[in-house]
Amino acid sequence: MTKFLVAYASKYRSTAEIAQRIGKTLRAFKNYEVDVQSVDAVQKVSSYDVIVIGSAVYMGQWQAEAANFLEEHERELTERITWLFSSGPTGEGNPQEILKGWTFPNALQPLVDRIKPHGITLFHGKVDPDQMNFLERVITKSVNARTGDFRDWDMIDNWALKIAKMV
Ligand SMILES: Cc1cc2nc3c(=O)[nH]c(=O)nc-3n(C[C@H](O)[C@H](O)[C@H](O)COP(=O)(O)O)c2cc1C
Repeated sequence: MTKFLVAYASKYRSTAEIAQRIGKTLRAFKNYEVDVQSVDAVQKVSSYDVIVIGSAVYMGQWQAEAANFLEEHERELTERITWLFSSGPTGEGNPQEILKGWTFPNALQPLVDRIKPHGITLFHGKVDPDQMNFLERVITKSVNARTGDFRDWDMIDNWALKIAKMV
């Protein structure tokens, strides 16, 4: 039976919830065996056939633990079916249009070129000022970030189905 890992890095849980949703959709599709875990909790990457890795985006970067995960497990990821997602932009419309074509941090591009993921996508995120610290509130205000939960569950489900159907 194909084993899936959905590993995430998330500061305020909205990316963790996206990862859980991807896991749920994969399981519903074909009773696949799916583990959904924070990247820090993953024990044995080599025991999975398909690996989905997602990170929240802060200041144009993936969370450090997600970037480290890619680096530490480059070989296993290259040898397996790997998919990547970023989550961040808020506001209506296509997330890539909101970020003017951006899907992934440039700094990780050489690593990603070696891993050759099956796909990379960008999901909307959630900005909740009540959760953020003072500095984060100042930053999001200064860039006029829209507040609210803009996660598009249909888009997330469709991407998960694409992964499920590739196996
Ligand atoms: C200080 C700060 C900086 C952010 N920088 C970006 C950014 O550069 N690009 C982006 O798309 N989203 C950015 N965001 C939005 C977050 O990516 C979004 O809130 C995301 O859903 C957070 O995920 P998490 O709840 O899993 O931590 C930023 C949010 C904060 C609070």
